[in-house]
Amino acid sequence: MRTILIASSKGGCGKTTVATNLAAFYALADKRTVLIDCDPQESSLNWCERRAGLERGAVLGLSARLGPKALSKLPKGAERVVVDSPAGTGASEIAAISDQLDGILVPVVPSVIDLDATERFLTALAGHADFKRRKVPVAIVANRLKPWTNLSRNNLDRMRALGPPVIAELRDSGGYALMAGIGRSIFDYHSEQVLSHQEDWTPLLKWIKKLD
Ligand SMILES: Nc1ncnc2c1ncn2[C@@H]1O[C@H](COP(=O)(O)OP(=O)(O)O)[C@@H](O)[C@H]1O
Ligand SMILES: [Mg+2]
Repeated sequence: MRTILIASSKGGCGKTTVATNLAAFYALADKRTVLIDCDPQESSLNWCERRAGLERGAVLGLSARLGPKALSKLPKGAERVVVDSPAGTGASEIAAISDQLDGILVPVVPSVIDLDATERFLTALAGHADFKRRKVPVAIVANRLKPWTNLSRNNLDRMRALGPPVIAELRDSGGYALMAGIGRSIFDYHSEQVLSHQEDWTPLLKWIKKLD
């Protein structure tokens, strides 16, 4: 079993987008996949329900509170567990489950406000005594990039200076919102345009694979 938490203190940075697309990738690869939604807004849970009618790639959605018992209701045989978390999540909530995690992905959008908040979040996490003991690998997912803009380029440089590796550069695409709304992911489609966005995920998927 492999368990990945998607977390940030910031809202709107792409946690649910990363969580749902990652879960879909695993489910479509025939892994028994569970998506635990710790956000009371339940966007991930709703996505799982919308997805339930599809022929392939169903993801079991569970809701939980981010805390020591968040992973206690996992069904036997779960192979991939993705945990989506709410905005405002702090270092101590993550430290409380860190012994059950294989890795943490922190999405960040190219904005100074988001970068400042993420820097504080990562510093608090790295400094938390329980978290330090467990040494869970943390990586940054640069999200909503518009690579042709100076804003994206400059903020990407700052993301790279945050400490954890930047393991993916996901471009901005209206497709993500469209697909989320119908319980789908970019891994459910195979047009040329979608395939180029799937390639953005390759280094992220490789990083997770190496966590074994
Ligand atoms: N790479 C992307 N390109 C375009 N829109 C995106 C991208 N990632 C996220 N979004 C959109 O940004 C909004 C916030 O994303 P979401 O995943 O819900 O963030 P969070 O869960 O961190 O609050 C949503 O409307 C989502 O569809
Ligand atoms: Mg969310």
